[in-house]
Amino acid sequence: QRIPEVEQLLQKMTIEEKIGQLNLLTPGGGVATGEVVSENVGTKIKSGQVGGLFGVTGPDRVRKAQEIAVKESRLGIPLLIGSDVIHGYKTTYPIPLGLSSSWDMGLVEQAAQMAAREATADGINWNFSPMVDIARDPRWGRISEGAGEDPYLGSKVAEAMVKGYQGDDLAAAHTMLACVKHFALYGAAEAGRDYHSVDMSRIKMFNQYMQPYKAAIDAGAASVMSSFNDVDGVPATGNKWLLTDVLRDQWGFKGFVVSDYTSLNEMIPHGLGDLQAVSALALKAGLDMDMVGEGFLTTLKKSLEEEKVTEEDITNACRRVLEAKYVSGLFDDPYKYLDSKRPEKDILTENNRALSRKLATRSFVLLKNHNNLLPLKKNGKIALVGPLADSRENMLGTWAPTGDFNLAVTILEGFNNVASGATIEHAKGANISDDVAFAKNVNSLGERILIDERSPETMLQEAVDLAKNSDVVVAVVGEATEMSGESSSRTDISIPESQKKLIRALVATGKPVALVLMSGRPLTIPEEFDMPVSILQVWHPGVEAGNAIADVVFGDYNPSGKLTATWPVNVGQIPVYHSAKVTGRPATESGEFQKFRSNYLDAPNAPLLPFGYGLSYTTFDYSNLKLNTREISQGEGITVKVTVANTGDYDGEEVVQLYLRDVVRSITPPKRQLKGFQKIMLKKGESKEVTITLSPDDLKFYNAQLEFVSEPGDFEIFVGTNSDAELSEKFTLK
Ligand code: IFM
Repeated sequence: QRIPEVEQLLQKMTIEEKIGQLNLLTPGGGVATGEVVSENVGTKIKSGQVGGLFGVTGPDRVRKAQEIAVKESRLGIPLLIGSDVIHGYKTTYPIPLGLSSSWDMGLVEQAAQMAAREATADGINWNFSPMVDIARDPRWGRISEGAGEDPYLGSKVAEAMVKGYQGDDLAAAHTMLACVKHFALYGAAEAGRDYHSVDMSRIKMFNQYMQPYKAAIDAGAASVMSSFNDVDGVPATGNKWLLTDVLRDQWGFKGFVVSDYTSLNEMIPHGLGDLQAVSALALKAGLDMDMVGEGFLTTLKKSLEEEKVTEEDITNACRRVLEAKYVSGLFDDPYKYLDSKRPEKDILTENNRALSRKLATRSFVLLKNHNNLLPLKKNGKIALVGPLADSRENMLGTWAPTGDFNLAVTILEGFNNVASGATIEHAKGANISDDVAFAKNVNSLGERILIDERSPETMLQEAVDLAKNSDVVVAVVGEATEMSGESSSRTDISIPESQKKLIRALVATGKPVALVLMSGRPLTIPEEFDMPVSILQVWHPGVEAGNAIADVVFGDYNPSGKLTATWPVNVGQIPVYHSAKVTGRPATESGEFQKFRSNYLDAPNAPLLPFGYGLSYTTFDYSNLKLNTREISQGEGITVKVTVANTGDYDGEEVVQLYLRDVVRSITPPKRQLKGFQKIMLKKGESKEVTITLSPDDLKFYNAQLEFVSEPGDFEIFVGTNSDAELSEKFTLK
């Protein structure tokens, strides 16, 4: 249904003005994630050549830009003001991979709501989030920005984030347009190298990668960002099948599509032609807005004259951009996000920081608790060592361009805040990495890896001496902020050798050791996992990092996070994920090597830590798995009940997980797939019956004709604490 105000405006627009609306620029000043930056932005706004800006924040700066558009351009069309608000605006919270590990969709939505309130208070009305790309290759640095490997969980997170950003009234001053990215399949880059090619069957695409994008669109996401990679040999930015046939025709998307940063221009090195050719191709494919590269601005008129595109193509794209402005309420009041009193009222408030602290505690995953060392007592002498223990600049994590790491709480500070009765002493013990060339690459966005002037031996000795004189050692180790994120792929995802040496030396002292492991991705840690240590995975926790880590280490909160991406034993296993196929020659049940079966000579098939894994300070017991029926008909769902008991010594939360195996079907089924979960709180000694209902759609998959169907036959259900859950029951679909 057309919007009359937009249609009237379109009538008044010249072709140049329509093309101008398709242009998204950044005046710089923030982080430029490509080589091109926009020039003469003010002049271009004045002459109607700009539809939106990003990288401009704060009511005063945004007002200046908006006033040029509204008062000085011929038609006075307001600008969209975009930003990357990926895990909090100024109140940074855990990186998305960490946030997803909470498995708490209410909290995810609340986090997005807080981000929207803060960002809109600073003049932003459009957010380049959520990133919903399924990622099964932890070498890929941007695995940190998504919800991990699973399409079911990924869809729930996508939906919660869209709802959080957009609320139920996009015209409200505290909501912003969401932008689902990166459409499509960006997380499946070959060999985990960023921007690399993607090639996969449509069956795999639709069964394992597309659901989160669709879920975000079904939740009402107002815009979509095309990805850098190609799909079926055509860059996503110019891929008509993706942007029109699937997105609009099949899924009914009504919003607008923006390119990624110069991804339109990048179709040239991809091999699709010159700027004019790729711009025409992209417009015809369904791209509406061109980020930074100005391919649309500089070539579309010529393409129109040469009949390579039509005026209708341009008008359609322009209409979609204008409609987004209309639903944001910008035509009613272009300055509605520009109340100069709001930043102080809405940004970095005590409540927001408290929420960030809570989110961080919920994102941590207890990987191992040797001798139940954790939680620590708030007394005695604690050696707090490691290069990340007192490293403010590495607390926020990747892609927090509007955050300020100077406001972050270090772990040393957090320990002192929370455990003031303990004596806490600190030694760095090691550099994040001693590798100068690696550090230089990591530091290309600014320093995050400092190589100490002292020799590694001196630093190590200092930490060992401190450890020997303490009751317990906490070592904060792992990845610096810029070791994950965009363009931060690694072929070796272990803890850097400098830190491994430190861990070995600390363990050799015989003192109890807890590792607080910080990273933006799953790491390969078989050596550390075998050591007599406890391990708490904390990702990059955000502005309240130190306080949140102390809350969990000292037991004020009992960890409940669960991995949302499998942790491999080594890089050679990648991709390794819970919903892989079994093959015609499955490995032995015991995992023992057998010739002529699908297994490795030098490593198990099983990962180090499965999807869904995470311990608690307490223990949970699962029993009494029941189905409401053993036979259902097409169109019917099934209800699953299980009893969960807290059998340990602490109150705690547990994520009850349900996996489904379609035993026989027309295309080979995955071993099992997540199809439901529920996060519950159980007091010590308490037990609860948990009910999870599978809908008819939960039994469906895309068949060889890409029809979404369920097929008669047997299904197996597994319920438990992670994707290796053993408690199972069967039912049949007639
Ligand atoms: O939104 C981002 C995207 O995820 C990566 N390239 C740059 C965009 C805008 O900053």
